[in-house]
Amino acid sequence: MELCEIRPGNRDNVTYAAQLLAEGRLVAFPTETVYGLGADAENDVAVAAIYAAKGRPARNPLIVHVANLECARRYAAFDASALKLAQAFWPGPLTLVLPRLADSAASLSVSAGGPSVALRVPGHPLALTLLEAFGRGVAAPSANRSGRISPTCAEHVAEEFANNPLAPALILDAGATPVGVESTVVECTSEGGAILRVGSLTAAQLERFAPLRAGSARPGGEGALASPGMLESHYAPCARVRLNASYPRPGEAFLAFGPGAPQHEGEVGRYRNLSPGGDVEEAARHLYAYLRELDATGAPCIAVMPIPFEGVGAAINDRLRRAAAERLTAE
Ligand code: TXA
Ligand code: MG
Repeated sequence: MELCEIRPGNRDNVTYAAQLLAEGRLVAFPTETVYGLGADAENDVAVAAIYAAKGRPARNPLIVHVANLECARRYAAFDASALKLAQAFWPGPLTLVLPRLADSAASLSVSAGGPSVALRVPGHPLALTLLEAFGRGVAAPSANRSGRISPTCAEHVAEEFANNPLAPALILDAGATPVGVESTVVECTSEGGAILRVGSLTAAQLERFAPLRAGSARPGGEGALASPGMLESHYAPCARVRLNASYPRPGEAFLAFGPGAPQHEGEVGRYRNLSPGGDVEEAARHLYAYLRELDATGAPCIAVMPIPFEGVGAAINDRLRRAAAERLTAE
């Protein structure tokens, strides 16, 4: 199996990564949420390489990562509520979808040809050092093949692109990501914000700084607004996913949560507890790695215990629901 190169995220390797980006190559890097597959956001050919490497539909736009608000303002128009949200939550797990500036230097492909651009200043020191060294926007979706589970460590990225001639030239390694689920995507218009993707920042946190429009995505909400990416099948392991399970059925792998979880019966390797203490933030950190590990056991089904909706639990439930729905439509 041919794996792409993983290097520790030290200063020399960040300089090298910035050089690769300037040459139009792909570089995977950690953010506080998940690892991203980065390319120069101003280079059409480099951005096209992201879509090709992931097998991502061209209609699904990309997030442009920037080092700070000044850099973001080169690409999009910020109104008062967008400014408030950016000032409150950047660097951090908030993506703002804003009108593209007419003379925006960002490749039109990051917007999938549309009038908006998604921007984020990630709250991870290595990502920020890379963005500062590069000096421009870096387009970066999660560094997984389209429709699969997002990577929360460098090894996951290497697995995703093993034997892929379009694999990133380099993966910068900073260990496991501290948040574990993707950023909250908020579209800002004059009528206020709308959550297009539930993420690690909650609606309650956002509402302290800007009003959220009716129709904004709420956990489990039907008919809500959604980003193009949320319409695709997503976060799917190979195994089927059975939600709200209180115990595993014979042959199933089991993803438990909390102190009340049944102890593992059967194979120890097929049992994980997202947070034995019942902490949703710890569960978010473990979610994708445990889904990958349980999937790798070859079990036909992963049974998952109920997870509370509080805080980041809303995003965990959203991702699990999508992972389960994928299998239902495939059957
Ligand atoms: O935490 C994250 O957001 C990670 C890290 C790497 O930053 N990135 C990430 O990117 O999750 P991706 O491409 O896997 O998901 C981006 C989401 C998709 O649902 C996409 O449709 C939406 O953001 N999006 C991007 N640009 C958009 C735009 N202009 N309008 C509406 N939705 C947009
Ligand atoms: Mg993704």
